[in-house]
Amino acid sequence: MSTTHDNNPAAKLELDGKTYELPIIEGTEGERAIDISRLRPDSGYITLDEGYGNTGSCKSSITFIDGEKGILRYRGIPIDELAEKSTFVEAAFLLIYGHLPNRTELRNWSDSLAEHQMVHENMRFHFEGFPVTAHPMAILSSMINASSCYYPGLMTGQNPTRFDVQASRLISQVRTIAAFSYRKSRGLPTIYPKKAYKYTANFLHMMFSMPYEDYEMDPAAVRALDLVFMLHADHEQNCSTATVRTVASSKANLFASAAAGVCALWGPLHGGANQAVLEMLQAIHDEGDDGSKFIQAAKNKTRRLMGFGHRVYKNYDPRAKIIKKTCDDLLEKLSISDPLLDIAKRLEEAAIHDEYFVERKLYPNVDFYSGIIMRAVGIPLEMFTVIFAIGRMPGWIANYKEIMESPDSRICRPRQIYTGKEINSYIPLDQRA
Ligand code: CMC
Repeated sequence: MSTTHDNNPAAKLELDGKTYELPIIEGTEGERAIDISRLRPDSGYITLDEGYGNTGSCKSSITFIDGEKGILRYRGIPIDELAEKSTFVEAAFLLIYGHLPNRTELRNWSDSLAEHQMVHENMRFHFEGFPVTAHPMAILSSMINASSCYYPGLMTGQNPTRFDVQASRLISQVRTIAAFSYRKSRGLPTIYPKKAYKYTANFLHMMFSMPYEDYEMDPAAVRALDLVFMLHADHEQNCSTATVRTVASSKANLFASAAAGVCALWGPLHGGANQAVLEMLQAIHDEGDDGSKFIQAAKNKTRRLMGFGHRVYKNYDPRAKIIKKTCDDLLEKLSISDPLLDIAKRLEEAAIHDEYFVERKLYPNVDFYSGIIMRAVGIPLEMFTVIFAIGRMPGWIANYKEIMESPDSRICRPRQIYTGKEINSYIPLDQRA
């Protein structure tokens, strides 16, 4: 590191006999980046970082993670403090608007969520078009995108009131769409939301009530699911959030950007891992394995221990700690004994003492125990990733807002190193081999 003429630290890069000074940028928690934004114009070189493990794509003030220390904070507030004292709805406001709401703000925010909870009635025709075998994540992304067609006036301009309505509409309706898609997949009548219920209870009502009988909810199950939503609410530049920001950088509307986030989240290496964990635990159970064969297969790389490892956490994921405790408490409260929880604990115990996992700093992530909570609450397996999507919506919206408000924001357009053929000629069809 050196110092530039105006005393700011800079990195020096020597290329083809020339020295380039690259400014060092420091975040509020001391994390540092080399600013290469002038590298290509000045030197002709680009950087290559597949998977972006070393690339900062933005400056953001929403969420802080220290993966080495296992720290996660929303707007500076530690996740364990929020888990103990807050709710998903309050944390959503915090993420999007940058501060904890006062009494009036919280009441207005809750009222706005309640006001926008119904999807447009014509949307029900779209649900009819999906086959019963459709994965709810496919329905969710399609329906979020489709709903933008019903609110065309909200899609233009950066009017703050419009943004507020879009944000609460999306947070509120994602849970309505999710519950409707589940009902559709089971051939059950749709249950409309009730104003009397709070956010998470309302979701469970739409999932499990019947036209002739309201679903009886255990407050511990409602609280556990609310916590699952909150713990998923943001996680800085993960695959789906980076996708939302990329789509938003082209000035696409909020609904289109969020629908893209749902698609990115679906994959088993990202949000789809919670479903994959339960499938893995079930397979281990069905095979009569005590977990040791699976651990060996993971070390041989013929299987992957789902719910383990993280690009950023090289320590225990702080969300996994909270989820594991919530899982134990909930199962005890509901008097449920789940053999899959026993298998999960055995796998964790084996892995955290095994050289392969220790060396690679692989610990349980948020998905390792969350599925057991969802199973206990009665959420079907194919809805697990949808639950993640409902939870992540405030984070996507906060990131969308940040990119739209940033004066530095540019369309995301990475470069590449071309490795294909050099210039080639077109061969007419009758002359090809
Ligand atoms: N089981 C066995 N080996 C693993 C695992 C695992 N779950 N995760 C990583 N490794 C090994 C990997 O094979 C590699 O070994 P080697 O150095 O010998 O080549 C080393 O650890 C580094 O892994 P990587 O694949 O380079 O790490 P990454 O940062 O590219 O991937 C990850 C991160 C989360 C995709 C990966 O750990 C994984 O596939 N985990 C299982 C899926 C999962 O639980 N995903 C949810 C992530 S948390 C929620 C979310 O963000 O969506």
